[in-house]
Amino acid sequence: MPLSDYDWYAWHAPYDQLHTVETDRLEQVQEAISAALDAAPPGRLTAVSACSGQSRDLLPVLIDHPRGHDIDALMIELEPLNASFLHGALGSTALTTVDVVVADAGAAASYAGHVPAELLLMCGVFANIGLKDARHTIGRLGELVAPAGSVIWTTYGDSIEDADDVLAAFADADFTPVSLVWAADRSWLVAVHRFDGDGRPWSDEGVLFAFRPPTEP
Ligand SMILES: C[S@@+](CC[C@H](N)C(=O)[O-])C[C@H]1O[C@@H](n2cnc3c(N)ncnc32)[C@H](O)[C@@H]1O
Repeated sequence: MPLSDYDWYAWHAPYDQLHTVETDRLEQVQEAISAALDAAPPGRLTAVSACSGQSRDLLPVLIDHPRGHDIDALMIELEPLNASFLHGALGSTALTTVDVVVADAGAAASYAGHVPAELLLMCGVFANIGLKDARHTIGRLGELVAPAGSVIWTTYGDSIEDADDVLAAFADADFTPVSLVWAADRSWLVAVHRFDGDGRPWSDEGVLFAFRPPTEP
């Protein structure tokens, strides 16, 4: 799947500024990841980040959290520049069980060997795929998330208007909300859902979603 012309490398620049909407949201995502690792059972755990970008959310937590070295992580990112950034960042850590793949996270096959995961990050995905694909993807999350595992996800931009429908889709798919943190102006949502259904066999067949290029940066 080709990437759009949108500059997904520059998209991360607001994360480097102080107190932006994006850093506020990022802080909530990092807190949610830390809380999920705090509560995780002992032993090795699998985490997958779909459309990971530069992994400004998961990677810093893996570095700092006491459970960070217990995690087998997969970052799925289509933009090679972001994957290079990630490889560079990983090079200065002691983490040895983080895989970065340049692949289409909308293709079920891209998750091979790493699902069902105890922790799935879908940050920014539902903000960029439309409600139809969001519903379809959530309907298949039972294949990607282990029973009692968590999905941490965000939405914002125009897609925030679909948030209630996305929340309803999670409920229909046997996911229970653990936390919902809204921006004060409700321009973004950081959500954590626990999978309370039975595990479903993963199929590498088919498409989960197609990313739509944003109309503005
Ligand atoms: C909105 S950003 C989110 C990045 C990160 N998850 C975050 O929230 O900070 C979307 C990311 O998805 C990547 N991307 C776009 N289409 C993709 C696809 N089909 N598969 C994997 N990554 C994709 C972009 O390159 C970009 O880095």
